[in-house]
Parts: sequence; structure tokens; C-alpha cells
Amino acid sequence: MSPDFPTYAPSDEHEMLRSTVRELAEAKIAPFAAQVDEESRFPQEALDALVQNDLHAVHIPEEYGGAGADALATVIVIEEVARVCGSSSLIPAVNKLGTVPVLLAGSEELKKKYLAPVARGEAMFSYALSEPEAGSDAASMKTRAVRDGDHWVLNGTKMWITNAGVSQYYTVMAVTDPSAGARGISAFIVDKDDEGVSFGAKERKLGIKGSPTRQVILEDVRIPADRIIGAEGTGFKTALATLDHTRITIAAQALGIAQGALDYALGYVKERKQFGKAIADFQGVQFMLADMAMRLEGARQLTYHAAMKSERAMNGEKVPDLTFVSSACKCLASDVAMDVTTDAVQLLGGYGYTREFPVERMMRDAKITQIYEGTNQIQRMVMARQLLK
Ligand code: CAA
Ligand code: FAD
Repeated sequence: MSPDFPTYAPSDEHEMLRSTVRELAEAKIAPFAAQVDEESRFPQEALDALVQNDLHAVHIPEEYGGAGADALATVIVIEEVARVCGSSSLIPAVNKLGTVPVLLAGSEELKKKYLAPVARGEAMFSYALSEPEAGSDAASMKTRAVRDGDHWVLNGTKMWITNAGVSQYYTVMAVTDPSAGARGISAFIVDKDDEGVSFGAKERKLGIKGSPTRQVILEDVRIPADRIIGAEGTGFKTALATLDHTRITIAAQALGIAQGALDYALGYVKERKQFGKAIADFQGVQFMLADMAMRLEGARQLTYHAAMKSERAMNGEKVPDLTFVSSACKCLASDVAMDVTTDAVQLLGGYGYTREFPVERMMRDAKITQIYEGTNQIQRMVMARQLLK
């Protein structure tokens, strides 16, 4: 018998980390969450608080100056930040998304040079795969990288890039051999200060309004040849292998948003009185709460299970079902987050529909988790391919 079952249980250290982050998030991030949403502005207070407490990119290994937190600890950090502010949770989540390609496939020089400033909180890292005409079908990208002596020259437009403009560094996927399909795509590190890099206007979004989403426009961007991540032609595989680890962080964001909405609704139903008693006394309300908590806990367990598999894979173990569990937890947790936040609005009645209460923001923030890092239709396609192969 394999003693596999205890491996995804959070340890005492994980639970201590959760309390620390919860306290910090409630004190330093929650007070600005509504304003950040209302004004569609970057949550600088959250970045400052996270950096001060070394929680902005906890996944970076100690050898590159990071906190060396495991995948489950990273999930817990993202979950607890998302519980109070979905936008702010994209700081640790996207720092992980941008840097995992370097961790998985980058040279030792790239790791040393580009991970240390992120670990120190001096730079953020974004991930640029999508394009205006290439979203779900990411391999159909048009951005080109052409070798010119000791340099690569990049041209193209990346779309929907989270934290674009705020991040210093970008993992950019680009076509190096147009005749080779997905095997003709390579990954590069682009610096915001490289000549020819510019950003589109901020997208005006339904939710996660504090997280800037912009185009990254590359016009004859000339970068040294050694900024390629891994071998030429391996960029698409690196991009997908990265998502195997980071879809779990989007699941974490979804869990956190849903937990925030459930916690708020639990407090509200005990206070709100109708028909002479607290609405929490009605069985119809109790059953809704029970369903919300039940589905949330199910999604959480799958996410933690996936996180531990991700950790094992990062440590060099072969984990054949990582792709499946990663897609599964992102898909389940985001669907649960949409249901739970919608039910939370319902439980607050008309008040829930207003900006005086946080649950409508949480419902708007939850929606994106069904769309990015691959829509939930794409997650189902990924899972089905794994089942049928
Ligand atoms: N790990 C490593 N390699 C993988 C892989 C994985 N998980 N999955 C597939 N590959 C390899 C395949 O083996 C294949 O390689 P070979 O040709 O050598 O065999 C190659 O990658 C191409 O694979 P497919 O033929 O399966 O590729 P496809 O074109 O059919 O597309 C897809 C696959 C699953 C649809 C993929 O395009 C996809 O995931 N699309 C969704 C896009 C996405 O998730 N974007 C996220 C953007 S980031 C974001 O949104 C940011 C944010 O949240 C903040
Ligand atoms: P499309 O691919 O055009 O899909 C439209 C619809 O068709 C969807 O419902 C989709 O599920 C469905 N569909 C497509 N193909 C199939 C199929 N084969 N079977 C069934 N249904 C299908 N990308 C990055 O690279 N970096 C980022 O940092 C980033 N951040 C983002 C932040 C935000 C706020 C948003 C909105 C997007 C972000 N993205 C980012 C892009 C995101 O990953 C894409 O939006 C997503 O993958 C979907 O691509 P699309 O928008 O082009 O939709």
C-alpha cells in the first residue's frame, strides 16, 4: 500500500502561515479592497504589505533569495489574500506564473539574474502567452522572434497581460520557426525597459479591477540571445508545463474569493431579521449555507491535493496525473466560486446587490477564474484528453 494519503494534509506550519496571512490581509489589504475596485487602481498597499512580510513571491527557492515555500504554502497565501481582495491575490499568483517557466527551463544564469530581484520585492514578473487572435488556441500565436547574430528580435502584440506595466519582467512566448507549429515556439524574458516595449490601455473589466490587464506591444525588441528560456522550439511545452503548476494558484484564488463571500454571508444571516427572527433560522437559508460550505471544502481538498503533486513534480518526481488534477481543481474551484459568490449575493437580498456590501465585488471577481489560465471548456478538454490518451 502506498502511504500517499497523508501527503496533502497541511502541516502545523501551513496553518500558522494561514493565520499570519489572514491577520495581515485583514489589517492591511481588506481596508482598501472596495476602493481599489471602485477606482480600478493597482493595490499598492497590498504590494507593500506583501513585500514587507516576504509574501509577494513565496514560491521562489531559497537558493535564488526567495522564501522557498512549497506549492501548498503558496496556495494558502493566495487563498488568504483573495479572501479579502481578488485583485491583490494576483500579485503572488502572477509572480509565480511569470517565473515558473524560468524555474522549469531557464539556465542557471537566468535564474540567478531574474529571480533574485523578484524575491527581494524589487520587480514583478508577468506571463505573456495570449494574443488578440490566439486565446484558447494559444499555439496559433503570431508574435515572432527572429535570430540576428547574438540577439533575438521580437515583434508582435500580446493581449490580456495581467500586471502589465507594473511588472518589470515578462515571459514572452513567440514563434521562432513558423513551419514547425507548436514545436516552433520559444520562450523569452523581456524587460519592461527593453527598447521597443510598450503597453496598451488598461482593459475596463467586470472584476479584478485593481489588477491591470493590458496589451504588451513588442516592436523590434532586440534582446540578447541568452534570454531564451530553454532550447529553441520548447517554449510552448514550457508554457503548458507552467500552467500545470499555476492553474492550481487560480484555484486558490477562486477558493479565497468564495471563502470571503461565505464568511460574510454567515455573519449577515445571523444579524438580519425577517418574520420576527434571524434569517439564519430558516431551513431554506441553512441548506444554502451547507451547500456552499460543502462544495467549497470539496474544491479545497482537490486543490491541496493538486498542490502537493505540483510540489513533488517541482522536486523532480514524475507525476503523470499533474495535468489532470491541475485542470480539475481550477475548473471545479472556479465553478464553485461562481456558485458560492452568487448565493452569497442572494443571501444578502437587495443589500447584496449594492456596493455597500462586498459580496457583489466577490461575485464579479469570481467570474474571471472560469476564464483565465484557460477557460473551463479548455480545462474539460485537457482533462478529457488525459482520460482518453
Ligand atoms: N506539459 C508539457 N507539454 C505539453 C503539455 C503539458 N501539460 N500539454 C501538451 N504538451 C505538449 C504536447 O505533447 C505537444 O508536444 P509534441 O508536439 O512534442 O507532442 C505540444 O505540447 C502541443 O500540445 P497539443 O497538441 O495538445 O496543443 P494544442 O494546440 O492542441 O493546445 C491546449 C493545447 C490545451 C488547448 C492549450 O493551447 C491551452 O491550454 N490553451 C488555453 C490557453 C491558456 O490556458 N492560456 C492561459 C494564459 S495565462 C493567463 O490566463 C494568466 C492569468 O490567469 C493571470
Ligand atoms: P476564446 O479562445 O476566443 O474563447 C471564446 C469562447 O470559446 C470561450 O467560451 C471558450 O471556452 C470557447 N472555446 C474556444 N475553443 C473551444 C473549444 N475547442 N471547445 C469548446 N469551447 C471552446 N493571458 C496571458 O497570456 N497572460 C495573462 O496574464 C492573462 N491574464 C488575463 C487576465 C484577464 C483579466 C483576462 C480576461 C484574460 C487574461 N489572459 C491572459 C488571457 C486568457 O487566458 C484568455 O482570455 C483565455 O485563455 C481565453 O481566450 P480568449 O479570450 O481568446 O477566448
